[in-house]
Amino acid sequence: MMGDQKSAGYRAVIIGCGSIANSHASGYNRTDATALVACADTVDAKAADFAERNGIPNYYADYREMLDVEKPDIVSVCTWHPLHAEMTIAAAARQPKAILCEKPMATNLGEAEAMMIACQRNQVKLAIGFQRRFLGAWTEAKNLIASGAVGKPERISHTRLTGLLNASSHGFDCMRYILGDPKVEWVFGQVERKTDRYERSVRSEDCVAGFFLFEGGVQASFQTDVVPENKWAFVQGTDGLIDFDDGWIRYFNAETAGWKDVEVEEVDAAAAQVGELVEWIEDRCVHRNEAENGLWTMHMMMGAYESARCHEVVRLPMQTRANPLDLMVEAGQLPVQYPGRYDIRSFLLEGEAMNLEETE
Ligand SMILES: NC(=O)c1ccc[n+]([C@@H]2O[C@H](COP(=O)([O-])OP(=O)(O)OC[C@H]3O[C@@H](n4cnc5c(N)ncnc54)[C@H](O)[C@@H]3O)[C@@H](O)[C@H]2O)c1
Repeated sequence: MMGDQKSAGYRAVIIGCGSIANSHASGYNRTDATALVACADTVDAKAADFAERNGIPNYYADYREMLDVEKPDIVSVCTWHPLHAEMTIAAAARQPKAILCEKPMATNLGEAEAMMIACQRNQVKLAIGFQRRFLGAWTEAKNLIASGAVGKPERISHTRLTGLLNASSHGFDCMRYILGDPKVEWVFGQVERKTDRYERSVRSEDCVAGFFLFEGGVQASFQTDVVPENKWAFVQGTDGLIDFDDGWIRYFNAETAGWKDVEVEEVDAAAAQVGELVEWIEDRCVHRNEAENGLWTMHMMMGAYESARCHEVVRLPMQTRANPLDLMVEAGQLPVQYPGRYDIRSFLLEGEAMNLEETE
């Protein structure tokens, strides 16, 4: 239909033509080894416009039809979280080489495990879209810790706004990434939910906070929607501190005489994520966003809810497969004091989809 088509080896498709899909499209378009051949969205005008803007030859309303006709090598799942499991499992059944599903991996552990099983059964590589792992500042934080620049890491803290499954999923993933992806031994959490708050059609808390212990002894604290502060992870070591965000990083130790800024490489995270997917398909590496890491982040988030539900320290990996926030609300443990369902991402909805009750 349009655009100069690359004669690249791996045929990629995108399901869901909304905001994050733009980043996936640019990742495929900027990677020599991939060509974006089709996209799908239930809103026809969105699919058509997305295809036009990104030089994609075909678009569909039915993503299953797209998978059957296009027989892609790589599938991006860019819809809201409640559809991640269904779409990943449907894509896996068609046996592409890899699936790149957006974060959070799913809305509960049962769904996340089913996604892993479907991909293993069909020998499909599954990665979760925590693309910030490719940012120069994040990788520099990981390298500083590994080099001992701040001694032995002892404590790490995360503070973020806009929901546990939304923004804090990146923060939890960040803490594990910069520490070298340790397992998490336990979580102790508390939740407040007085409004009927949702985020992309998934029930959300008003705020949540707690603690983790990582294998190896690093203690973490997290606060989501508690304080108006956004830090993916602030690191305290025996001999110094590391402070960073997406585009900058500084550290502090006995030799730096105050905070020392480190220049960070500017990385196209979307393209880097796709590039590493190609290397993984070709068995030249394991993707840093392999689903095992997305699953750990699910355990951390669901464990925080489960700790609040059961009033106890929850050992990870945990056993409860349902979403404990749903269990608490449905059991009357978190009565809504300010009625009226609302979604903090309702601004993404268009046309008739503005009816929030119909978006699940
Ligand atoms: N990695 C990141 O930094 C990042 C950033 C933003 C969003 N996300 C994640 O990406 C996902 C999508 O978020 P978004 O902000 O792009 O949402 P969005 O609303 O902008 O886009 C979602 C699209 O999916 C389409 N859709 C819905 N049902 C469909 C179906 N059955 N078949 C095909 N298409 C369908 C919608 O019409 C919409 O165009 C979420 O899970 C979110 O958490 C990740």
